[in-house]
This record gives sequence, C-alpha cells and structure tokens, in this order.
Amino acid sequence: MRTIVAMPGDGIGKVVLDETIRVLDAAGFEAKYVEGDIGWEFWRHEGDALPQRTIDLLQEHKIGLFGAITSKPKDEAFDELDAELKDKGLVYASPIVRLRQHFGLDICARPCKSYEGNPLNFIRRGADGGIEEPIVDVVIFRQNTEGLYGGVEWTNPPKEVHDAFMSHPRFKQNFGWAPKEEVSISTRIFTKKYTERIVRAAFEHAKQYGYKSVTVAEKPNVIRETSGMMYKMAQQIQKADYPEIELWNTNIDAQMMWLTKNPETYGVIVAGNMFGDIISDGFAGLIGGLGFACSAQMNPETGIAVFEPTHGSAPKYADYETSIVNPIAMVESACMMLDHINENEIATKIRKAVAEVIKEAKVQTYDMKKMSGRADVVTKGAASTQQMADAIIAKLK
Ligand code: NAI
Ligand code: MG
Repeated sequence: MRTIVAMPGDGIGKVVLDETIRVLDAAGFEAKYVEGDIGWEFWRHEGDALPQRTIDLLQEHKIGLFGAITSKPKDEAFDELDAELKDKGLVYASPIVRLRQHFGLDICARPCKSYEGNPLNFIRRGADGGIEEPIVDVVIFRQNTEGLYGGVEWTNPPKEVHDAFMSHPRFKQNFGWAPKEEVSISTRIFTKKYTERIVRAAFEHAKQYGYKSVTVAEKPNVIRETSGMMYKMAQQIQKADYPEIELWNTNIDAQMMWLTKNPETYGVIVAGNMFGDIISDGFAGLIGGLGFACSAQMNPETGIAVFEPTHGSAPKYADYETSIVNPIAMVESACMMLDHINENEIATKIRKAVAEVIKEAKVQTYDMKKMSGRADVVTKGAASTQQMADAIIAKLK
C-alpha cells in the first residue's frame, strides 16, 4: 500500500485536505496517510515552519498532499514566536517555498479546464452580440525554482556585486548614477538544465494528452538572455523531438490580454517562474478562481512530488463553525497525484464525479453561488465544504 504524506498546514488547508482524503477513500484509493507537520503553529512553538521530521517523511515516502499555510511578513512572524524562542536569531521563511527549493520541485503544472455548468466560467460577447462561453482547456507549466523567485537579490549590494554590475555597460549607463545604497537588485537567473526540463515537460504533456500546441509565454524580444534562452530551447526541442506539436511564441503582456479574447485557442503554456505564476492565476480566473485552481510540483529525477491547491489558508474562514470553502481545488490536486502514481482510473472516476456535481448545479459552494464568504451562507443555500465532498462521493457510486 502507498504511503502519502498529508500536510494539512493552516486554516482551511486542514478541512480541504480532510475532505479530499474522504473522497479518495470513497473512490477506492488504498493508501496510508502519515501527517506531516508544516505551518504557522510549528513556527510559533518550534521556530521552524517546516520541521526536519516533515522533510524526512517526504524524502522517505516521496508523495505529498499539501493543504495551505499561513505566511506573514518577517517582523510579524517574529512577534508571534514563543517567548523562549525569541533570542535564538530565528528568521521566518515560507515553508512551501522552502519545500520547493529543498526537494528541487522544479516542474510545476497547473491545469485550468472549464467545467460544463460552472456558473463561474468566463463568458464574452460574440460577433453576433450573443453570449459565448469558450471552453478553456489549458495546462500551464511553470518553472518553479529559478528566475525572479530564485531569491538572489540585494538592497545596497556588497561592493563586489555592485562593481560587477558596473562592468555591464547598460547598468553603468542606466543605473550607475544612483548611489549604491539606493539600489535594489532582484535577479532573474535561468539555467539550461532546468529550462530544458520545464520545456520538455510541457511538450511531453502536450504529446501525452493530445494538445496541438505549446506556447512559450515570455518576452524574448526584451528579456533577451533568459526568455530568449527558453524560446530558443523550445525551438530546438520541438524541431528535434516533437515536430507534430506546434510551437507558439507569445509575449507575456499580450498573452494576458489574449487570455480573455480567445482563451480556447491555447493548449499547453510554458513560462518561467514569475510569468508562469501570473499566467496561471489569469487562466484560473476564467475557470472559477481559487476554489478550482489545482497544481502539481515535482522533481522528475527523484520522483518526489507535492500536490496542492493554489489557494492559501484563508484565515478568516477557518474559524467558521461550518466550513464554507470549496474543496474542489484540493480534490483536483489529489487527482493530479493519482495521475502521477499511475492511478489513472481512480483519477478519472473522481474527475467525472466532480464534473457531474458541477453540471447538475444542485450542490454549490458559496463561491459558485456568487455570495460573499460569510459564515451564514450555508443557511442561504450554499453547500458547506463537507456537503460538496458528500455530493462528489455520492456520484462515485
Ligand atoms: P487565500 O487564497 O487564502 O484567500 C483569498 C480569498 O480567496 C479568500 O478570502 C476566499 O475569499 C477565497 N478562497 C480561497 N480559497 C478558497 C476556496 N477553497 N474556496 C472558496 N474560496 C476560496 O489568500 P490570502 O487571503 O491572500 O492569504 C491568506 C494566507 O494564505 C496568507 O497567510 C498567505 O500568505 C497564505 N497563502 C498560502 C499559500 C500556500 O499555502 N500555497 C498560497 C497563497 C497564500
Ligand atoms: Mg500565485
């Protein structure tokens, strides 16, 4: 039997994960779940939001299901530390970012597919003035460890760093006038190895699931070195190994505009860390938003992978007596896990059940009802988190 490391984290992370495990059980997925500690409580009481024991568990079992964590700015985090930990020089860092970096989870996949009957689906006006509801079926491959989120940055950089930058004619010309102390630098570093990996993963996915195109959504005409490297690599890989798949090149800014003009045109999209982050939120908005946005993060070399909804811990909803949040993003993330471990039949069964519940439109969480998220929505016709999971389970039969 498989062992899955279940990392509920904080706030609504706990409830969406519990409900998802209920759905997995009901669908016949046989697994043992071991709980991995992660999140705010472990920061406050142990000074570590990602304790070593959780890292060890993932190292051992390789597959993690993660709910969501609460993150706070450095100073606030320090204030909430237990008194006896305050003099230990501890600095808070987001445990999910640490997890990605520690295990080199460089491949992030975020599918955005519209469900028939989802009242949150994007609509637009067609040429004849009528309403159109384009079917979105896009998977974004986001490089998850490098680029602008790589963490290599300075304010008032050390002299040797500043000197090195001054040796670049553009830096000297455009920024050399500014006193070193008044300069902040965040770098955007791409390596050939990981750029190639994300581009290949995108093509491989397109091939496996029958998408006709892979779009590189970067900005190679302006960010020549990094975006340029990714696009050039995509050209080589397409030519050598995937001639049957079309390669498209869009600029990220234009892509964000086209997103609402013709989202149905796109298939697989690949981008660096920050652009991938932005574009996946953009597409998620077209298919229902945070209650529907799922993701996988994996390291193809070690097979270690973590599956999580893209939403956070929504702290203000966590204290409601009856939980109101939509568990579908977490359930869909679990389906990605099932795909990853070749339990495709169970994944298909669950996805079908989710699709039926949405199409039937009898059980809808507050977001689907377009209500604002207050505790009393469940008395006004919105389904609770548990009722939504129950409805999915009922369709599995
Ligand atoms: P959030 O994603 O937790 O919530 C934003 C809003 O989205 C909520 O108020 C709610 O209206 C809606 N929402 C979120 N999940 C939903 C669901 N499953 N169903 C229906 N509606 C849903 O983002 P926020 O409020 O900016 O951050 C809260 C905390 O979460 C912060 O501490 C933040 O650092 C952390 N966070 C953690 C992430 C992670 O664990 N990967 C990702 C994003 C934020
Ligand atoms: Mg994001």
